[in-house]
Amino acid sequence: MTPDLRSVTTLTEDQADQVRRLVSQSAGAQDNPPISEGGLLRLHAGAPVRHLLATSEGSELLGYAQLAPDAEATAAELVAVDDAVALELLGALEKLDAEDPHGELRLWAHGESSVARRAAQQAGLLVTRELLQLRRSLPDLELGDVPRPAGVNIRPFVPGRDDQAWLALNALAFASHPEQGGWTQRDLDERLQEPWFDPGGFLLAERDGELVGYHWTKVHDETPEPMGEVYVLGIHPAAQGMHLGRVLLTAGLRHLRGLGLGTVLLYVDETNTGAVALYRTLGFAEFSRDVQYVRP
Ligand SMILES: CC(C)(COP(=O)(O)OP(=O)(O)OC[C@H]1O[C@@H](n2cnc3c(N)ncnc32)[C@H](O)[C@@H]1OP(=O)(O)O)[C@@H](O)C(=O)NCCC(=O)NCCS
Repeated sequence: MTPDLRSVTTLTEDQADQVRRLVSQSAGAQDNPPISEGGLLRLHAGAPVRHLLATSEGSELLGYAQLAPDAEATAAELVAVDDAVALELLGALEKLDAEDPHGELRLWAHGESSVARRAAQQAGLLVTRELLQLRRSLPDLELGDVPRPAGVNIRPFVPGRDDQAWLALNALAFASHPEQGGWTQRDLDERLQEPWFDPGGFLLAERDGELVGYHWTKVHDETPEPMGEVYVLGIHPAAQGMHLGRVLLTAGLRHLRGLGLGTVLLYVDETNTGAVALYRTLGFAEFSRDVQYVRP
């Protein structure tokens, strides 16, 4: 059955709900959802993205894709009920992008068993980047005392007061990671308003009144067992390599363990060797990987 494909710039509330349902019901969604957190946040009206909807004759949603341009490329994600719909969506995505290109089109496929991955392979796309999902158990995690660098104080984030300084630090720490480093006040606000937001799990490191690092943790309760996440960890470039990353990581993990969570997950670029090394020293191991594809 060939789906009906439609591109729109804004989803109705009902369409956004249908997409969320399709995502949560897709295979492997609990371990690695086919649309990222950022993609789900961009389902709201006014997000600067294009949406593609694949529907059946009876208007049932069979698939969804999103094109999200950033400063240097266009990221795409898709979810579908089967491989055939995924392939149709991918073809339509590439066509839509060709009509109004914003840099290279990069398709994310989340997890080994995703329909996006099979569609990308079938369509002859090539792997350009891999994002690891690492996990480890929390109750048995031994967290020794890691001495804080001299003069560094750790405290929770205060919404409204720390926003500007945090956004500036995030941009510096992730200067070479546009998806994270390009966060704006709006990106921050969207997350501060999420039900999972807890300032007690968003730790800032300060030295002489200046922010030098942070560790933002998150608790997932949409999973069968609630899980913690090392959501974002960043150190000011001038303060890297003095064990502040390890100090903040440890403090955040202690917070998550204190909540009684069984598992903690995180995402990290495979090429981010410093961060991967840090996580491995604390026993994190690969759980799954997201693959980004481009047309050669
Ligand atoms: C990755 C990051 C958080 C590490 O923080 P840091 O304060 O620089 O690192 P630390 O001094 O605490 O180092 C802790 C461990 O990480 C590893 N590590 C850190 N930088 C490393 C590097 N460049 N190469 C190899 N290992 C490195 C080492 O195992 C080190 O332990 P050791 O010094 O006892 O051998 C920090 O460099 C950063 O903010 N980078 C940019 C943003 C980022 O990539 N965040 C993580 C995204 S998931």
